[in-house]
Order: sequence, then C-alpha cells, then structure tokens
Amino acid sequence: MTEAEAESSGKPAPGEQAPGEQAAWEQSFAELWESLLPVGRTPAGYRRYSWTPADEGCRAWFRAAAQARGLPVESDRNGNLWAWWHPAPAAPATSAVTPTTSALSASGALERRAVAVGSHLDSVPDGGAFDGPLGVASAFAAIDLLRERGFAPARPIAVAAFTEEEGARFGVACLGSRLLAGAIEPAAAAGLRDGDGVSLAEAMAGAGLDPAALGPDDDRLAGLAAYVELHIEQGSALDGLGAPVGLAAGIWPHGRWRLEFAGRADHAGTTRIADRHDPMLPFGAAVLAARAAAVGRGALATFGKVIAEPGAANGISSAVRAWLDARAPDEPTLEALITEVTAAARAAAAEHGVALDLRRESFTPAVSFDPALRDRLATALDPAPARPAPAGPASRGPGPGRPAASGGIPVLPTGAGHDAGILAARLPTAMLFVRNPTGVSHSPAEHADLADCLAGVAALAAVLADLAGP
Ligand code: GLV
Ligand code: MN
Ligand code: MN
Repeated sequence: MTEAEAESSGKPAPGEQAPGEQAAWEQSFAELWESLLPVGRTPAGYRRYSWTPADEGCRAWFRAAAQARGLPVESDRNGNLWAWWHPAPAAPATSAVTPTTSALSASGALERRAVAVGSHLDSVPDGGAFDGPLGVASAFAAIDLLRERGFAPARPIAVAAFTEEEGARFGVACLGSRLLAGAIEPAAAAGLRDGDGVSLAEAMAGAGLDPAALGPDDDRLAGLAAYVELHIEQGSALDGLGAPVGLAAGIWPHGRWRLEFAGRADHAGTTRIADRHDPMLPFGAAVLAARAAAVGRGALATFGKVIAEPGAANGISSAVRAWLDARAPDEPTLEALITEVTAAARAAAAEHGVALDLRRESFTPAVSFDPALRDRLATALDPAPARPAPAGPASRGPGPGRPAASGGIPVLPTGAGHDAGILAARLPTAMLFVRNPTGVSHSPAEHADLADCLAGVAALAAVLADLAGP
C-alpha cells in the first residue's frame, strides 16, 4: 500500500503503526535512551568527562548501538566516533541530490559525499541527560525509522559523536571538532591539562589512542557533504511558540578567559586589613564588573568556576583562579565587554596589591549556519510557505533565543556553542532544536518530553531522507 492509498483507506502505510501502537523506531529510541541513562550518572547529575570511565561507557554504548544496526564504527585520529550506513552497492550512485540549488552540491562532482548527523556524549559537571546525547540517540533512531520505511540511502550516512564538546575536562569547548577542523593547534591541544595535571595526550594514550596523530583531518571533511546536529533547545523559545522542533539560525560569538589573581596567603585572624594581599577581592570586583558589562550590552558573562588556593576557611588565599565565559550578539560587543572586565579586574588587582594573569583559553567566532542548507531543511520539515516571523516570547535570557520563522518552522539564534558551529567553517552545517519545557540546560533539570524527542527523530529522518535520498 502506498502512503496515498493508506491515507484514503485510513490504514497505516507499510512501516507505519496504527494509532496508539508504538512503532519499532519509537521503541528503539526509548531503548537507546534508557540504556544510556545510567552511564556517568551521579546523585547530582551527569559527569561524563572525556577519556574517563564514564566516557568509555558512553563510547561502549555508541559502539553497541552501531553494532546492533550493522553500522561499522571507527574512532578518528582525534577520538571522535563515526558509525557508517553505506548505500547498498546496487543503489544508484549519481542521482543523489539535485544539483544547482543544493548546498550539498556546491563543489560539483562529489555526489557520493556523506551526510553526517550526531552530537556529543560528554557533559558539563553535574549536567543533564539531554545536552549532546539526544542528538546521538536520535541519529540512530532516525536510521531505524528510515529502514522501517524501506528507505535506501544514495549517499553514506554517518552518525558522529564528537569528543569533549563541553570542555569540562581540558578547558576547550568543542575540542574534538576543533581538532578535526584544524581550529586548534594539535600540540596546544595535546598539552592541555585537566585539574589533576593530566594532559590530553596522556589521557588519550591511556585510552589506547595515539596522541601524535591528533590534528586536522581534511580528507574526512572532504568526504562530508553536510553535518546536521539535533540538540535539545537550551532555552524556552519553542515552548513559547508551541513548537516541538525548530531550526538554528546562528551562534553568538563566545569564549572562555582564565583569570589568575596571585596574592599572599596569611592568617585570617591576625592579619590587619591594611597588610593583606587578598586575591579574593579583585576577583569579586571582576565578577561584578562582568555582570555590569554584560547587562549594559545585552550580552552574557558568567564566572561559573573558581578555585581558591590553598582553600583554608581561616586563611587569606594565596591565589584565586577563575574562568569567565562571555557571549555577545556580535564580536565587537564581545570584545568591548572583555576590555571592560579586564580593565576593572586589573584596577582592582592593583588596588589590593595582587598580580593578575589573564588569558583567553578558547574562542568561537559568530556562526551563521548555511542558509541554503537551512532553507532546505525548513522545506523538508514543513513544505508550507514561509509564514511571518511570530512575535513569540524570547527564550530565557536576553537575545539568543528570539525566534524567527522559515518555511513555517521556527528558526532560533542561540548563545550556546556546538560542534556544528565549529564545523560550519569547513562545510555546510545545520541544527535542529527540540523543545525544552523547563528552558534549563547544563543542569539535571534539563528536559524534553518523549513525544518531542520522537518528533525530533522524525524530523531528523525527514532531513536525512531529503539529503541522502535518491
Ligand atoms: C556548550 O554547551 C556551551 O555553549 O558552552
Ligand atoms: Mn552543553
Ligand atoms: Mn551540547
């Protein structure tokens, strides 16, 4: 029975379930999800840092999911995982995606280049279950859905899981995709150290990888026509619009700066105020300056990690190390914000006889996702003509979540970083967002309803059918 016949008979088309019945792909998404939930779980959330036992658990989950689907898996030179669904040898090789208008055919004869989908499996400290893993589990479930519907890819499909997207262990966000894309020097990456002084090179060697192989992988990128990342929305714009799924417009420029205030350890009960060199005070001034600089510019600035040395409750600190995460709608605004915070921190440090060392640890320029690819996704997901941008509520936060519409599907800018943003410098990339009714992210309160996750899987499958289909 064709889909049109099914529609007129009221019966499900082949591979579709009757109302109330759970389709096999829905079941497989639920199973994928359930089986990953215990990995790296702590009482306070998820701790899935790269190259730790929790990370190995995530990688084992990825390999098992791929193996269960007959998808060969490889770990690339930077430790990113790839599971491949290759077209059957008999499948037509050249009728892939219509040239001329396609973002995928921009460079001509590479019709057999692959479409990659995925995200990351690592987490922030005490993070939620969805940020990252939703994209990877959805990718496997989308393949199940396509197979259930009898779809045969005309070009390879890859499910990717990028290493250390959060930068929670080695400090640089999107480390795996940065290395892949040549956006970080391999030697600098290899020398990054975690809080215990273990280098990335040592951690990777411990996991059986060769750190000497770290670095850009132009051949791999040349084999990719596009990368599409599905992600939980890290705001509540979709909830406000009543939409389960949206598309990403772009990513705010953002970065991390490390501030090290060096003072003098001393006794909290005997050192006169005038004699102190307390690094906590200029640090406090920097926190307040960051807040004021962000508010004044419609930007975001956060000190989310701070270490006081030596950490005695009855002592003045010898040093305070803190990390500033700053994001803004455009790069000049971000630069002005950092200049203002730096000046305030330096002035306060001088006032308190404290030395300040300030350095940028990572930076991601503004990203505007490939408009042709985005329009193509919008059409694949909702062929209705574009409707005017809804005057929807902004997401939590000032600017990054304000929606616009394209082809009937909401299009959201975001302040969050993603591997798709890094890879956008090298190939057409796009993102799908799934509704997050709490609007909360980087926290165990992050949540998406099962029905919306399934809507995300169906959307990803529709996108794959369009991009990788005959
Ligand atoms: C990643 O989630 C980031 O935006 O830092
Ligand atoms: Mn994140
Ligand atoms: Mn993420």
